[in-house]
Amino acid sequence: MNNKDVIEFIKSLYPEYKENVFLHAPVFLGNEKKYLNDCIDTTFVSSVGQYVDRMEQMVAEYTGTTRAVVCVNGTNALYMSLLLSGVEQGDEVITQPLTFIATANAISYMDAYPIFCDVDLDTMGLSPVAVRKWLEDNAEVKGGKCVNKKTDRKISAVVPMHTFGHPVHLDEFVKLCEEWKITLVEDAAESIGSFYKGKHTGLFGKVSALSFNGNKTITTGGGGMLLFKDKKLGEKAKHLTTQAKILHRWEFKHDAIGYNYRMPNINAALGCAQMENIEKVLENKRKTAMSYKEFFAGSDIQFFDEPKDCKSNFWLNAVLLPNKEAQLKFLEETNDNHVQTRPIWELMNRLNMFKDCQCSDLTNAEMFADRVVNIPSGYAQRG
Ligand SMILES: Cc1ncc(COP(=O)(O)O)c(C=O)c1O
Repeated sequence: MNNKDVIEFIKSLYPEYKENVFLHAPVFLGNEKKYLNDCIDTTFVSSVGQYVDRMEQMVAEYTGTTRAVVCVNGTNALYMSLLLSGVEQGDEVITQPLTFIATANAISYMDAYPIFCDVDLDTMGLSPVAVRKWLEDNAEVKGGKCVNKKTDRKISAVVPMHTFGHPVHLDEFVKLCEEWKITLVEDAAESIGSFYKGKHTGLFGKVSALSFNGNKTITTGGGGMLLFKDKKLGEKAKHLTTQAKILHRWEFKHDAIGYNYRMPNINAALGCAQMENIEKVLENKRKTAMSYKEFFAGSDIQFFDEPKDCKSNFWLNAVLLPNKEAQLKFLEETNDNHVQTRPIWELMNRLNMFKDCQCSDLTNAEMFADRVVNIPSGYAQRG
């Protein structure tokens, strides 16, 4: 199959794009304008308003969790997830090198040290097998805590990320974290609408973080959400993300150092309208993914399908080119021809800020970095 055939096929999926086919443009199918106008008409555009509570309820209901708490973006939701799961300054946190930089940055904001372990071939996300091996070689459980034998630091959390919406092996992570006395935190920024064995991603960790950035399946313009099973911890998150203000009609009293992380009402209004159509959007995106799967079948370009026992949201469809050279050629030819494609992220351990971090063998992550390209995946107007 040559790149010209691929370009033509992608353009045929998105005939509505007359110039550039975007990787993932937002889509507004329902009440977005109505709810935004309501915010303007009522003046409730900022930190107070009914849409914030409604958005939290809608996401909690949709995912099937006890409590959802809005944040200003996915990055600070991730930071709060680590804070609320007990990560402390000087701890170590295990994650994958193949991720968007926000995962590693959030660990750094905690003054904690990221450790990068390899990803699985079937999920592109953190591998429980690689993490277990790394722990067996480098760590021990001492006094109810997991300790790195070389650095003597506490390993307090494991943060798998559901790459492009494909769930990692969550049952294995739950088991591993129990055995090794480590807290599971899910970076579910990319995985609203993705399910592992019938349960929504983000419901396996103690806390997890979603993103509603403009390029995600559902957007609030910019925004994020924390998911909790523990209602009390959810209430603590709400308190901390709203300046730790003690509720009172007029007094300004605060009982902790809090954060101004509350999503504005105007963003939540957009999110409520988006959530009303999430099923339609997911169905449409799945249809596109299945068209790609069929198109690439049997060719030298491999479509990355959802893992076994999982339902992915297919946030960004990914293909594997035969090698680095083919990856670069594909990127060049598609972008030259107005089809927006992007390589997968540079590995975190190759970035200057994280180059001295501890790593496991990273064979799979390195292979994906050389070969993966994301192709247009947004809502297609065919309906
Ligand atoms: C894996 C991952 N983590 C965290 C984030 C951060 O989300 P945000 O852009 O909303 O801050 C993103 C998305 O942008 C992401 O893809």
